[in-house]
Formats: sequence, C-alpha cells, structure tokens
Amino acid sequence: METGAFHYRSGTLRCDDVELAQVAGRFGTPAYIYSRDRILANFRRIAEPLRRLNGLACYSVKANSNLAILKLLAEAGSGFDIVSGGELRRVLQVAADPGRVVFSGVGKTSDEIDAALAAGVLMLNVESAGELEVVESRSRHRGSGAAPVSIRINPDVEADTHPYISTGQTIHKFGVPKADALELYRRAARSPHLEVRGVACHIGSQILDVDPFLRAVDEVLALARDLRSHHIPLQLLDIGGGFGITYRDENPFEFDRFFSALECRFRGQELRPLLEPGRSVIGDAGVLLVRVLYVKETQSKRFIVVDGGMNDLLRPALYGSYHEILPLEQRDRTHSPADVVGPLCETGDFLARDRSLPEFKPGDLLAVLGSGAYGFVLASNYNSRPRPAEVLIESEKMRLIRPRETVDEMIAAEL
Ligand code: LLP
Repeated sequence: METGAFHYRSGTLRCDDVELAQVAGRFGTPAYIYSRDRILANFRRIAEPLRRLNGLACYSVKANSNLAILKLLAEAGSGFDIVSGGELRRVLQVAADPGRVVFSGVGKTSDEIDAALAAGVLMLNVESAGELEVVESRSRHRGSGAAPVSIRINPDVEADTHPYISTGQTIHKFGVPKADALELYRRAARSPHLEVRGVACHIGSQILDVDPFLRAVDEVLALARDLRSHHIPLQLLDIGGGFGITYRDENPFEFDRFFSALECRFRGQELRPLLEPGRSVIGDAGVLLVRVLYVKETQSKRFIVVDGGMNDLLRPALYGSYHEILPLEQRDRTHSPADVVGPLCETGDFLARDRSLPEFKPGDLLAVLGSGAYGFVLASNYNSRPRPAEVLIESEKMRLIRPRETVDEMIAAEL
C-alpha cells in the first residue's frame, strides 16, 4: 500500500516531518492524526481540473467535519456538501461562502430548510416530491426570493461497493426515479417560490471504477437536455462524491481518465459540473494512533488488545472494512497471524482480523491507516468511553484541533 503522508524514516513512522511517537507522547492515545499537506494535495487533485471546466468542488463535510479541517479547505477555495443543520452550522462557523454550499439528504426538516434558505446556500438537492412541497412552502413563508433547488435523480446505475454505501439504484432510498423527474421539474419551474438551478446524483461511496460515474453523468446529461427542450435550463450538474481510495491493494481511482471524460462531456456546455468528494480528500490523510494494552493468546488466536476500539473507529465492525496497521517502530522480525481488538465488550470490536503482524508488547504504538474519513465522525461514547483527540500535522508542527473528551464533559448534559 502507498502510505503517502505516513512513512518510515530511520525506522520510525512519521506523518510528514513529525514522528508519530512524539504525537502520542504529547497528546496520548487513542488519537486521530491528520496531515494538512496531504489533505490539500488531495483536494487540489480534484479542484484544479474541475476549475478548468468552470466547475466547483464541494467537500463532503460528513467524511470529517472538524472545524480546523473545514477552515483549511474553505481557505483553499472549497465549497461544501452538507446534510444537516449541524453541518450547516459548522461551515458557517468557519466563514465558508454559503453561495458554495449544497444541501443534500433524504430527510431535511423544515427547520433545517429554513436555516439553509436564511444562510443563502447555493442549492438544496431535493430528494422527493414531498420535500419539494416543503421547500416551496417554507420559501413562500419566508417571502424573500425563490429557493434555489436541484432534484437528485436516482440514475439506476450499479456500482461495485459495500451494499451499505451503494445508493444509485431504485432499491435505494435516495433520489427521485428518472421517470418522475420531468414532472417534478415542471412543478418546480412553475412555482414563483422556487428557482431551478441544477440536477444532482450520487451513486455511492468507495467506488474505484470510473465507468459507473460516467454512466450516471450520461443519464443526468440526457435529462438536462430533455429539460432544456421543455424550456427548463439548468446551470449545475452535481455528480456527487464516492471516489474510492486504496485501503489495501486496490488500484487507485483514475482521476485523469475521469476528468478527461468530463471534459469531453462538459466542453462548450452551459452546465457546470460540481463534485462532492469526501473520502478522496481526507481518507488517506489520517491515521488512528493506538497503544497496545495486552497481548493474549488462546488455543486458536493471538489477540493484540489496544486502547482504541469500535467506538473510536467503527468501520471494521460496521462494514468489515480493511485498514492497514503499522507499528510505529519498524520491525522485520517474524510475523504471525493476530487480531487487533479494542477494549469494548463486543466480539465485533476489532480493528483487524487474522492479520500477519510482528510481535508486540504492552506499551507499543500502532497506526491504523486510512482512518481520516468516516473515522472520528462515526465515533461514539459506547461503553462510556470519551471520544479521542484529533491532531493536525502542519509540516513539522503538531496542532491539537480537538482535545480528548473528558468523562466530565461526556456526562455533563445528563440529569
Ligand atoms: N455526496 C453525498 C450525497 C453522499 O451521500 C456522500 C457520502 C458523499 C457525497 C461523499 O462520498 P465520498 O466521496 O466520501 O465517498 N460511512 C461510510 C461512507 C458513507 C458515505 C455516505 N455518503 C464509510 O465509512 O465507508
């Protein structure tokens, strides 16, 4: 696996110019560590070709919503894809331009719609006829201009990914069937309280093949042409996110091929492409740092018990997903199979299973790679465990961007 920002130098694992052991020494474990430079490089790899097409990259806040990371991306010119009033508050908090914020999601409440309209977001990606009615009525009630909307189409495209994160087929709850789209657009175009701005789709997450994206784009472009012939012109085509990353030995997503295919389709068009990348910006820019508490062997297994578990990083338990595990001190001693498990009272509480790993002893430090996306944001207080610290590495400096939660903070709001 290409380890990017995380690499060994003189036998010790570093994030850019900082030894991870020093970060653990200063801020403790478990802790999430992110590389600023990697985040920015990942973002630019998407934003720059998109800008040449007059398009817009809207980082998907759900992947990692730490304010320091949102601020970094806002300063790099990113727009944002949000899915809740909470995420709206976060992007406003970092002074992001609301005119570059798209609001997605199947279950927006009236309060969330009101807040988005008051903030002046670029568009609400509407996912049902019922939602369109609510947006229209909230906009009428506000009485200050038409609400900018696009309709999220379910393009009925199959993508090869985990079933929990596949979204673009008619069996999924997301978007509006293609066959219903025209009627909804007509309804929206007739209303003085709505302004039709674009069309949206999102076929799923951790997709490594370019082709399903292009199939979805072609479906949606065909709809845009159809709408134009009905005098409903669109300005934006939101392709969503979902570009896969390398967790193990997957071939990287071919951004070059993707962008040249987009160029062929969007050159000379009025329509601007918009992308909502999350994982591809932050996924490989973060690790979870944990410390070995105990090593125990049973007749059939070697267990390495560490101080971070499923409440800190849920992905292995939820999706059976693979995260590379590296010791902070490089070793070439003999490897043997082991499970890396957390302290929680669940058999599903593992970070790795049947993995070939060197010997470890209590106190050793490990990095769980590829944890930048859907890591901290999915952390919980299960087993009354405070959530971990988050640290941003800025070349040779380390900056605490969220202190470890304390037990007092964890219970403070309860009566
Ligand atoms: N746009 C929409 C409408 C989405 O639903 C998502 C992700 C994205 C953009 C960003 O997708 P990305 O570029 O990050 O793949 N918890 C799962 C992933 C859930 C993705 C949900 N939607 C995981 O840990 O793999």
